[in-house]
Amino acid sequence: MTKTILVVGGAGYIGSHTYVELLAAGYDAVIVDDFSNAEQRVIDRLVELTGHSVRLYEGDAADPRFMRSVFEAESGLTGAIHFAAYKAVGESVREPLRYYRNNIDSMLVLLQTMADFDVPDLVFSSSCTVYGVPDELPVTEMTPRKDAHSPYGNTKRICEDIIRDAVTGGNHLKAVLLRYFNPIGAHPSALIGELPIGVPNNLVPFVTQTAAGIRPELTIFGDNYETFDGTCIRDYIHVVDLARAHVKSLDYLEGVDGRGCCEAINVGTGRGNSVMEVVQTFEQVAGVSLNYKIGPPRAGDVPAIYANADKARYLLGWESQLTLEDALRDAWRWQGMLSTKEKE
Ligand code: UD1
Repeated sequence: MTKTILVVGGAGYIGSHTYVELLAAGYDAVIVDDFSNAEQRVIDRLVELTGHSVRLYEGDAADPRFMRSVFEAESGLTGAIHFAAYKAVGESVREPLRYYRNNIDSMLVLLQTMADFDVPDLVFSSSCTVYGVPDELPVTEMTPRKDAHSPYGNTKRICEDIIRDAVTGGNHLKAVLLRYFNPIGAHPSALIGELPIGVPNNLVPFVTQTAAGIRPELTIFGDNYETFDGTCIRDYIHVVDLARAHVKSLDYLEGVDGRGCCEAINVGTGRGNSVMEVVQTFEQVAGVSLNYKIGPPRAGDVPAIYANADKARYLLGWESQLTLEDALRDAWRWQGMLSTKEKE
């Protein structure tokens, strides 16, 4: 029997890639999105990529009446993935209440509606931000979580706790908390990818926009960290690999006997790359020379973090297949598509 998954935030960056992988794996999927951080044209792209029409419900995932109406209309739902969160760290410091309201209310409403309609399987977008500045590298799921440095990070930690309590409290739920490391890249078709609004906060969109001439220069935030080349180290994961981890999580949850399971799982490559390595690798794969300078460290940046991804391998049968080169090539191709569109 085909399983139907509710993809909350399915028009967004990671949600849209996951939607494609769900259909490719034989799942049926339904999207909820309010397009607060996504564009309507993504839906047309999903139709093009999958060859199927998209069942879309446009509305606020934090509105209980709206979510009820979706569950009523889609009576065959077997699971949900929660992507519908704001994610800009700096903005969350300036607008904490908007972040708590959106990220936590939408989580609570989804959990309650799942419980009311007896929909058991949940995958949640968590983040390696829950580890803060880690005491050990690579980080495993047993590495202690730290106090969050931003309201954004706090919402991830709080949502993890809410889900765990809901599962333990016998709400007939099973959950996987996917702790993403640094998602980058785009679909190899260049039909979907990240759509940063305004000046990008994240490294790779800033790199591709600089190479495309949209930004005059990239600033590397600090080169005096205690790392092998002085720049920060992250675990960059191709968004298509990350999308597949959601599919594997749903496969896993389906096979779990009984309810009450709640597993936190790292989703990274297991390799750390420095900012300078990202810049150099980008220059190689794109065949361009990037205009960059070294600037002061960015407040709140963790010097180094990368995943131990063993748990994903043994529990989900998932591991990353795409390389940093693949991800940067796909990000550059996507940037080319965006720049062409701007000129039209
Ligand atoms: C940040 C958040 C993380 C969140 C993710 C999603 C923190 C500590 N982490 O990850 O919780 O899930 O965003 O958006 O805030 N860099 C530059 N120049 C730039 C941009 C970035 O040198 O213009 C460097 C940063 O210093 C960092 C690396 O590139 O070392 C990656 O930065 P970024 O892409 O912003 O991701 P994180 O900060 O790791």
